[in-house]
Amino acid sequence: MKSITVKASKTYLVEVGKGLLPTVGARIAELLPPPRKIMLVSDDTVAALYAKTACASLREAGYTVSTFIFPHGEASKNTDTLIDLWNAMAENDLSRSDIAVALGGGVVGDITGFAAATYLRGIACYQIPTTLLAMVDSSVGGKTAVDLPLGKNLCGAFSQPIGVLCDTDVLKTLPNDIYADGCAEVIKYGYLGDPTLLSWLEESFEDDPERVIARCIANKRDVVEEDEHDNGNRQLLNLGHTGGHAVERLSGFTISHGSAVAIGMLLAAKAAAARGICPPSVPEHMEQMLRCYHLPTVCPYAAERLAEAALSDKKRRGESITLILPTSLGKSELFPVSTSALADLFAQGGAPQ
Ligand code: NAD
Ligand code: GLY
Repeated sequence: MKSITVKASKTYLVEVGKGLLPTVGARIAELLPPPRKIMLVSDDTVAALYAKTACASLREAGYTVSTFIFPHGEASKNTDTLIDLWNAMAENDLSRSDIAVALGGGVVGDITGFAAATYLRGIACYQIPTTLLAMVDSSVGGKTAVDLPLGKNLCGAFSQPIGVLCDTDVLKTLPNDIYADGCAEVIKYGYLGDPTLLSWLEESFEDDPERVIARCIANKRDVVEEDEHDNGNRQLLNLGHTGGHAVERLSGFTISHGSAVAIGMLLAAKAAAARGICPPSVPEHMEQMLRCYHLPTVCPYAAERLAEAALSDKKRRGESITLILPTSLGKSELFPVSTSALADLFAQGGAPQ
């Protein structure tokens, strides 16, 4: 097992290893001992696989457990589900000293984190991520949110969990496409600042993911500790996301997030090479890596349309946009670019004109 300590506005442990789920009750008991109430939140797919084990462990440790299960998928990450969850917390009489536990992927983690951050002005939240993406990214760092009809994650809060438990055994039931989505985020950490990770990724980590997952979490920890509230270098975590979000949006969300990020990363790397910001060997290396992990490398949308979609992001600041571009193999930096130059940059990155 590997443990990573995150020292942000809260200090907490992220534990990664095999067979950890049945120990969740004992682990939470070390942080906030029973008797207390726990609201376990999950989606229907994950609950069918893992809620019984999690609830048994929590009850055995002495907690009173109630559950809130909602339909799986991004469509549930909305204010209706949030209100239902707040109401379930109130109906079960959760108090300030009680705990929300998120068992699931990034959708469950984000909505549970936001409900916990806001119910009674804030109760504790413990994260049990069950997708690769949620283990290496969304469960760590304290970003919580729900979507609004006008865009993703438009309503949320920074609120760190009290702990995170990554049981790598649960990854065995992930569908291949969801696993590949997580691989895109893993690969991202390599190109944004970790050449050693890139060398590890030359071999598949599927059979023994602990070392790679822990390394990604340590990378995220470093960024979050430096810039918890996302005013500077935390934006590095968005490598591939400007182009990626545009691809996702133009596809009507039929291209998955990980696939879109893969396309977006390669657009950024090719544009950086075309501008002399990094050597051409960086996009060549990245293209090969993405192919090995069964991720797409060709952008199906024209540069102008991509720029338009990227600039419609509600969270964009002013007349310039900060892009994350690789400068060498395993290193990326922030580059403010004027919004009028974005279409040219996507064209340099290989998007059709
Ligand atoms: P998800 O939560 O929708 O999970 C994907 C699918 O996998 C779901 O259908 C789920 O039921 C299923 N699933 C989950 N674990 C499983 C398992 N072990 N076995 C079988 N099936 C399983 O999607 P995701 O990719 O985990 O997360 C995406 C969400 O995360 C988005 O809403 C995104 O905005 C958010 N996100 C948040 C942050 C952050 O910092 N808070 C970072 C990145 C992404
Ligand atoms: N996933 C981006 C962040 O946590 O900032």
